[in-house]
Amino acid sequence: MMYYLNTTDEYYLHDQHSLNWELTVCNALQSDESPCRKALRMNSSFGFQLFHFLNKFFPFSKLNTILEVGGGFGYLMHDFLTLAPSLNATMLDISPYLLEKQKQSLDGWNAEFVNRNILSMKISELQCYELAILNENIGDFPTLVAQSPDDSLNNSLTRYYLDKINYFQDKYCLTLPARENINIGALEVLDNLCLAGVQYIYLSEHSCEATLPSSIQPYINFPLTGTPERITLKNHDEYTVKFSQLEKLARAHNYTAFRGQFVDFLPLNCSDRVLTALRLVTPFTDEQEIIQQFVYDLYKYEYLILIKGGQ
Ligand SMILES: C[S@@+](CC[C@H](N)C(=O)[O-])C[C@H]1O[C@@H](n2cnc3c(N)ncnc32)[C@H](O)[C@@H]1O
Repeated sequence: MMYYLNTTDEYYLHDQHSLNWELTVCNALQSDESPCRKALRMNSSFGFQLFHFLNKFFPFSKLNTILEVGGGFGYLMHDFLTLAPSLNATMLDISPYLLEKQKQSLDGWNAEFVNRNILSMKISELQCYELAILNENIGDFPTLVAQSPDDSLNNSLTRYYLDKINYFQDKYCLTLPARENINIGALEVLDNLCLAGVQYIYLSEHSCEATLPSSIQPYINFPLTGTPERITLKNHDEYTVKFSQLEKLARAHNYTAFRGQFVDFLPLNCSDRVLTALRLVTPFTDEQEIIQQFVYDLYKYEYLILIKGGQ
């Protein structure tokens, strides 16, 4: 099988001046006035709700060092530091523009800022962190895209990642089927975090394996492809993530894994307003369209919570 390597590095380094058009769930819940908040049972920010959920798995009050990779505008970490002020945060981001935004959001808080590509971090540089957070970004990392023969194979970075296919198959018995796109960057980052012995890890992204409960199927639809799908965005492509491969990799490193969908910690308020928006084939208002997309995301995003060793 031939592959080309999809990366978003150039986009985040040079071409990106706002995340607003690419509305993450975290950003969608930031404003008190957000219509998305009204679609949930609890009227609070993403970071606040995620923190309380993760607090059941991670002993935040005992933790010191937290690494957030690709923190966007820094909203999530602002909530985490508000709720656990003893944390020392490191914000690592490839984008100088977004790192500046994070500095503004976290002004006065216990945080340092590193303008790096996570894929360039050595295992020894990751060992000092007790907790790593990667929210809504692992689909940005390099993806090997299956295709017919192409001369981009000559690229040395592509060859590096092609060799990684054998590494993951041989070392961890991962099944990486030919003709399927491979989230090779996400696998590499998780492998490095596990090799570094980071005790607690949280990852999330659009999943190609997410399913819909029967109660929501009359309203929302997405195909269960089971293989990373391209998401075309402004000036770059991302890929949905095959979480079963990440979970298998983490278990091979002796991590306990908890996997689910955003709706687990952002429970839906099935009010008339929400159900009306969901029932419409063509929404009448902007708010109805926003709610439709938001509810889709609540099911399409999966998370993985990893704890080194047992529970
Ligand atoms: C879609 S945004 C998600 C932002 C934020 N986590 C949120 O949920 O709103 C992707 C983030 O990951 C960062 N990013 C993408 N690729 C990266 C890489 N290879 N290394 C470090 N940061 C990266 C981007 O600059 C951006 O901050």
